[in-house]
Order: sequence, then structure tokens, then C-alpha cells
Amino acid sequence: MKLNIAVLSGDGIGPEVTNEAIKVLKAIAVEFDHTFLFNHAKVGATAIDHFNNPLPDDTLELCKKSDAILFGAIGHPKYDNDPSAKVRPEQGLLKLRKSLGLYANIRPVKAYDSLLDKSPLKQENIKDTDISIYRELTGGIYFGEKKISDDGNTASDLCEYSKHEIERIAHLAFKSAQTRKNKVTLVDKANVLESSRLWRKVVTDVAKKYVDVELDFLFVDNAAMQLILNPRQFDVILTENMFGDIISDEASIIGGSIGLLASASVGDKHAMFEPIHGSYPQATNKGIANPIASILSAAMLLDHFELFDEADLIRAAVERSLKLEITTPDLNTTYDNITTSKVGDFIEDYISNPKDTNLNFSNIHLGQSTII
Ligand code: IPM
Ligand code: MG
Repeated sequence: MKLNIAVLSGDGIGPEVTNEAIKVLKAIAVEFDHTFLFNHAKVGATAIDHFNNPLPDDTLELCKKSDAILFGAIGHPKYDNDPSAKVRPEQGLLKLRKSLGLYANIRPVKAYDSLLDKSPLKQENIKDTDISIYRELTGGIYFGEKKISDDGNTASDLCEYSKHEIERIAHLAFKSAQTRKNKVTLVDKANVLESSRLWRKVVTDVAKKYVDVELDFLFVDNAAMQLILNPRQFDVILTENMFGDIISDEASIIGGSIGLLASASVGDKHAMFEPIHGSYPQATNKGIANPIASILSAAMLLDHFELFDEADLIRAAVERSLKLEITTPDLNTTYDNITTSKVGDFIEDYISNPKDTNLNFSNIHLGQSTII
């Protein structure tokens, strides 16, 4: 298969982790005889620095004509700490999601057996957790009308949803549940918010088309608690934009590091793949950023094009790296010399030599492998 992939690696650790994902995709292309072409463009703080625009027109054009987008991370403290900043890196990402119609953000959360002890949560509570969060991504309070009074003392953000916006992501969530454990949990605040009551009504109607899928409802405050108390109860979580943003960061605790969580943002025409973590500016260029979220996002890209064997091979390589503790310091208490690019090298090596892995890998901790 030939794919044109736009690479928007962005700010902070974005470029480092995205490089590892590209390395892995190139190894897949060789092994499976695909052609993946990568075209880079700027987004976020780096685009503001160069063009005074967090999403330059050329970047958006490249995304529109590409088959898929690989996204790194955006954000820089010089904008975070300045509430009066008129342009912000995040505007680039939000505009990209909106302009490309990427309305469904899919965030898988998994408790890897080899990492159970890395989570601050009790192992017996999180073991076997496997959740897929469907977060609505182009509506709600993120995109509603924003107001600030003339005197600057009162501000508001409107949370608005239409039936159509709810239906289209609900269908995706139910379809996904049919391939998993046949359960959708709608997370909302229907005891308080009118928009949440619309979500309940619309999702209940959509559910009638999926009789094999069980639908239940949880208020977001309770869901936040249930997620860490008993995460195994969840299969697919369906929720609006801001609740999804918050609970997906919370859910990352189950996996042991936010550096593991990948995501796919899909619409009817375009698809973008990005780690859920931010730009982690303090770690930039130190070689300590975990590339696995980005690498697993590349696996989701391959899934999107139904290259399932290729995606599974990446996931197998990742699981092996976690098992052998070929991981960055966020997950590694044993070895202190495993850098971002060493993790990528290991996964690339696994893909290129799946047969020969054990021999090679046993030397890795000793620094005797060729890839170290
Ligand atoms: C995410 C991020 C973004 C969001 C920010 C960077 C705008 O937190 O993708 O979860 O809030 O959607
Ligand atoms: Mg977030």
C-alpha cells in the first residue's frame, strides 16, 4: 500500500517521539512491502515562532491532501503562563481537528501485565483493564461561543451539541463495542446539564440499532471515581469533548504512564494519529520522553487502513519492550540508560528480526547488542 503521511511533530518532545514512530513505520514498510511517504509541516508554538500562526495554511493544505496525519505534541510554557496571549499553540490543534472534521477521538487504555506494579493503583483492581474511550472532538464547550465582558470581569464558554454531532460518534462507539465486549457507557452530567440530557436521549435512540450492545450511563463525577476504583467494568466509554479530555488523562494512570496512551482522531474524510500526552517541555531533547504513545499511534494508523498484521506486529514489539524493561525512565526503575531512541531502535529491530529477537535482546541490558 502507498500512503502519504503528513508529519506534524509540533513542540517540546513532539519531534523526538514522532521520529521513533516514523522509524517504526519505515521498518514496517520494508517488511511488508509498503511505500510510506512522510511530508513534514509545522504546527503549534514552533509555527507561531516562524509564521505567527499556530496552523499555517500550508500545513492545513498538506493535511488535507495526505492520507493520514501523524501528530506529535503542542504547547509551550511561554504561552501557558500568559492569559493575555492572543495566539496560542493549542489553537492550531483545535483548528486542525475542526477543519478536518475529526469528530471522534479514540483513546485505548490498557493495563499491561508487565506494568501492573508501575501504576499507583492496586494491581488486583486494574489487572485486565481494556477500555476504549470515544471522545467527541469537534463540539461542546471547546468550540462554543466564547465571551468576555468589556470590563474583563465576566467570561463564558458555551457548551452546545446537536443531535447530528452526537449520533455520528455514537454509531462509531457502538460499532466498536460490537467487536469488543458489547458494552457502551455514556459518561455525562445529565443531572445538571441540558446538553447531557440531549446526549442521553440521542444515544438511547442510536442504541436501538445495536441490540447486542448493552448501554449504561454514568455521571462524570461518579465515572471519574469508578475509573480508578473498578476500571474493568468498562468496555467502550462514550463521552463529550471536555469530559473525555479529563477522564482520558485520569485513565492513563491505569497503564502506569501517560507516555503509553495513543489516540486516533477520525472523521468522514481524514484521520490523524497522536499520543494523548502533551509537549512536556522540561524533557525536550533529553532523550527521556517515552515514544511508545507515538509508536502505538502509528499502529492505530495502520489499523485505520486495515493493515492489521502490521499493527499487531508493532503492538507485539511494544509489549516485548515493556516486558524486558526497554523503556524510558518514566517506567524504568532498573536501567537508567534507555533513551527515547533506544526504545525506538528496539522496536524497529523486533519488527525487522522477529525470529532472532531473544538472542539479540538478552544482550541489550549488557550493552552488547548492536542496537545499543
Ligand atoms: C488533548 C489535549 C488538547 C485537548 C489540548 C492540547 C488542546 O489536552 O488532546 O487531550 O484539550 O484536547
Ligand atoms: Mg488532554
